[in-house]
Amino acid sequence: MKSIVSILLLLLCQWGAQAQRVCGTDEYARHMPLQRGGESTEGILRDTATNENIIIPVVVHILYNTADQNISDAQVISQITALNNDYRLKNLDAASIPDVFKGLAADTRINFCLAKVDPNMRGTTGIIHKNTSRTYFLADDKMKFSASGGDDAWDRKKYLNIWVCRIFGRTLGYATPPGVAANVDGVVITTTSFGTIGNLNAPFNKGRTATHEIAHWLGIKHIWGDEDCGDDGIGDTPKQETYNYNCPVFPSVSSCSPNSNGDLFMNFMDLTDDACMKLFTHGQKKKMRGQFAINGPRNSFLNGFACDSSYAQGGPLPIDTVAKPAEIPADPISLFPNPVDNVLNIQCKSATALTGKTALLFTATGQLVRQQTLQSSSEKMLLGQLPAGLYVLQIGERAEKKIFKVIKN
Ligand code: ARG
Ligand code: ZN
Ligand code: CA
Repeated sequence: MKSIVSILLLLLCQWGAQAQRVCGTDEYARHMPLQRGGESTEGILRDTATNENIIIPVVVHILYNTADQNISDAQVISQITALNNDYRLKNLDAASIPDVFKGLAADTRINFCLAKVDPNMRGTTGIIHKNTSRTYFLADDKMKFSASGGDDAWDRKKYLNIWVCRIFGRTLGYATPPGVAANVDGVVITTTSFGTIGNLNAPFNKGRTATHEIAHWLGIKHIWGDEDCGDDGIGDTPKQETYNYNCPVFPSVSSCSPNSNGDLFMNFMDLTDDACMKLFTHGQKKKMRGQFAINGPRNSFLNGFACDSSYAQGGPLPIDTVAKPAEIPADPISLFPNPVDNVLNIQCKSATALTGKTALLFTATGQLVRQQTLQSSSEKMLLGQLPAGLYVLQIGERAEKKIFKVIKN
């Protein structure tokens, strides 16, 4: 059963890669300059008070190549509003949560604001508009570094970094969970799914990609536990077989539903359409708020002041809009063995350089015989079934394209 499901998932993912959507001390610390690219170190902080309102300063890095990707500040503000509605259970559509699930819906008392103080203690709008020479980004963190056509993170102890850029393919966004390196910490959202106004791609036009990804940044897993009837570690979310797409009709019972109420597909951590996502549960709230506890990875936000403009010294600096050329990847790709009998290894020293890239294998006459999306810096391509001869392997697209000759024995 499980293996059939995983084969189906594998097929779905491969098909998905082509056509479908692919499957985050007090006065002393307050006056310490906020770091850009690094992170501040704090002294002793405090624990969360019961149900205190937590406020997360946000910096939005908008990376645009075309004018329409340079979204308006109003669109950014519409996203912040949507986040505050969703996290505070002020979303109007909560009224249509099925009665049997209404008691699960929680006001997390987590709030978001655009930063008013930048890492150099200058005034800011919390919105950076930056031109990039990249026509698109992959889920490989290049948008998080100025040196690779992106924009460097602001101190992750003080700001939630949100990068908004064109993500290639159908990926709507991705997030880092708590505990990653400081310079990649944050969430990435594709331009056409950010906010609730502007040029948005329905049905992902109610700002819920950011709601979902920020919950990952706060340690929440997908509701099906990312496995067949898996566990998301949250007590009050019912088990469900797998993710839901589109907008199921209640009740939607799956193989491991605990009762006839079925899947909680209207949870922000399923994969349904924006219009169908309506709640976080009390269990998810507890887990998210736990990140802010005394030894939690997001504890420093309790000392946050970056949304308080009275700390700003001087006005905003002029915005850097000059596109810098994208860097040339330093890490060579190695292919072995070549000639190959069966399994061709595709490797790269850099942990992320290959992730998200497409590998295409063509015959000498140009017929496509293999296609796969690389998931890591060490991948295998199975060639056992192919006739002997010369093949051409293409990794990546456009300016990043690399071509290799492969000889099959
Ligand atoms: N890339 C996200 C994930 O799988 C997609 C979820 C966003 N869903 C939505 N309806 N906006 O983690
Ligand atoms: Zn997700
Ligand atoms: Ca659960």
